[in-house]
Amino acid sequence: MAEERETEVIHSWSAPRSLSTSLMYSFAQRDDTEVVDEPLYAHYLRVTGVDRPYREELLSKMESDGNKVVNNIIYGPGGKKYRYCKHIAKQRMPGLSNELMEKGKHFILIRNPLDILKSFHKVVPSSFHELGLADLVSIYSELCAAGKSPPIIDATELQEDPEAALRGLCEDLNIPFQASMLKWEAGPKSVDGIWAPWWYKSVHKSTGFVQTDKYRQPFPALLYDLLEQSLPFYNMLRSNARRKRFPKLPMPSLPVPANEKLLVWVGDEILPRDSAMVSVFDSVVQGGDSVWEGLRIYSGKVFKLEEHLDRLFDSAKALAFNNVPTRDEVKEAIFSTLMENGMFDNAHIRLILAEWKPPVYDNTRGITLVTATTRRNSPNNLDSKIHHNNLLNNILAKIEGNNANADDAIMLDKDGYVSETNATNIFLVKKGTVMTPPADYCLPGITRATVMDLVKMENLVLEVRRVSLSEFHTADEVWTTGTMGELSPVLKIDGRVIGDGTVGPITKRLQNSFNKLTEGLGVSSLKMVQEIKIKLVDCE
Ligand SMILES: Cc1ncc(COP(=O)(O)O)c(C=O)c1O
Repeated sequence: MAEERETEVIHSWSAPRSLSTSLMYSFAQRDDTEVVDEPLYAHYLRVTGVDRPYREELLSKMESDGNKVVNNIIYGPGGKKYRYCKHIAKQRMPGLSNELMEKGKHFILIRNPLDILKSFHKVVPSSFHELGLADLVSIYSELCAAGKSPPIIDATELQEDPEAALRGLCEDLNIPFQASMLKWEAGPKSVDGIWAPWWYKSVHKSTGFVQTDKYRQPFPALLYDLLEQSLPFYNMLRSNARRKRFPKLPMPSLPVPANEKLLVWVGDEILPRDSAMVSVFDSVVQGGDSVWEGLRIYSGKVFKLEEHLDRLFDSAKALAFNNVPTRDEVKEAIFSTLMENGMFDNAHIRLILAEWKPPVYDNTRGITLVTATTRRNSPNNLDSKIHHNNLLNNILAKIEGNNANADDAIMLDKDGYVSETNATNIFLVKKGTVMTPPADYCLPGITRATVMDLVKMENLVLEVRRVSLSEFHTADEVWTTGTMGELSPVLKIDGRVIGDGTVGPITKRLQNSFNKLTEGLGVSSLKMVQEIKIKLVDCE
């Protein structure tokens, strides 16, 4: 009589479109493993009533009583050492026997929802329920609570370095790696579920894990909200993956180790250290547009609190911040944060207020400038050639422009010559000669250099020299340059109308040649060129 041996069950749990079928094919190559494709699918369709084009066929051919599936198929007798069950997390419906999770080895396969959503939506309309990421997190949490923390593997790792990823997974599952897992034959397989014609078209073309194109299809805007809902679940699982695709840089050792579990006030809430973030769109990130105070606690009291708040509010006023919280609101934030952290003595507070000011460019009708009293930095202090984002020097000038109802402000150098505006370089035309200040006290703008080349190509005379304000006031034409605003005609400076108050002929000529240049020049990936060609054909 053949010796009966217990088959050990390996459960893979994932969202759909996470390379779970590829991974099943990979395990099917092992000489010691049999695989089962989504054994709980019929159970899921029966219990939820979810529709699929193959629903009736599937219900007639597959066992739809989940507990029978668990007992007879998943944990039923087997012929090989291992049985690999591919599961989609949402198919684990309530009411299934506890054995499902208590027995066997489990692991979690994750994939960035950015990739899942695009792929899923091609077959069935996506929804939060359909992705089942919350179910995947529940499975992870339950297994952890039961003391069986499952390994988590990211699908991208399988694509980037299949052997290393599979070796790592096998090690985590405590099974030997087999090199046969790296390749399989193309085409449908006998183990495929009957839904394969709908879902497995591309995996049937594959013979192994392959790296996808670096540059992929544009992400559909209609899936954006779903992406936002799904990402926190993916991120939570990813942060618990044993092998990190992009391992975090080692944390510098903290001077006060207890600060690792710090709670931080951001906006109107208290958050753990790792969640305490500001947006990349915030002005403090974009231009250093913020003011701050450092305060200290001694014996349960904030030392010189009122003095620090006076300076904070004065600084915010000097930078013309809007929507500044009240003194009471700031105090509440300070004391709530201290209480939550249990910090009553010898603690240091870093208090930061930030703000945002929008840029303005009108390249058809032109813009108005005023001269700011704030000087552009000299290389003695902070070299304007560095394109740093500590923009307060320019922001102060911009505030002067805002207060004078102008679009931007001209900034002078330390000797009173024009350097640039708070956000752009500046040019003038006088009697057919184009002039711009040297890049000593201004950013050597890339658009500035491009326009200087165009001026020469248009056979115009270009002078790069110190230009005084009165020369700008009395110019025939003035424009500013920058990547954001391109060439913006200036029609008024400090109340003086420039030329005849309309966009001048040289400005228009250079705007045209600039537009032509931007159509032709530039760097793109081959993929982008193909996409734009497809779009252009679509429009025909
Ligand atoms: C102060 C300042 N001047 C000029 C420019 C224009 O530079 P570019 O033409 O390289 O965009 C910028 C752009 O960021 C700027 O911040």
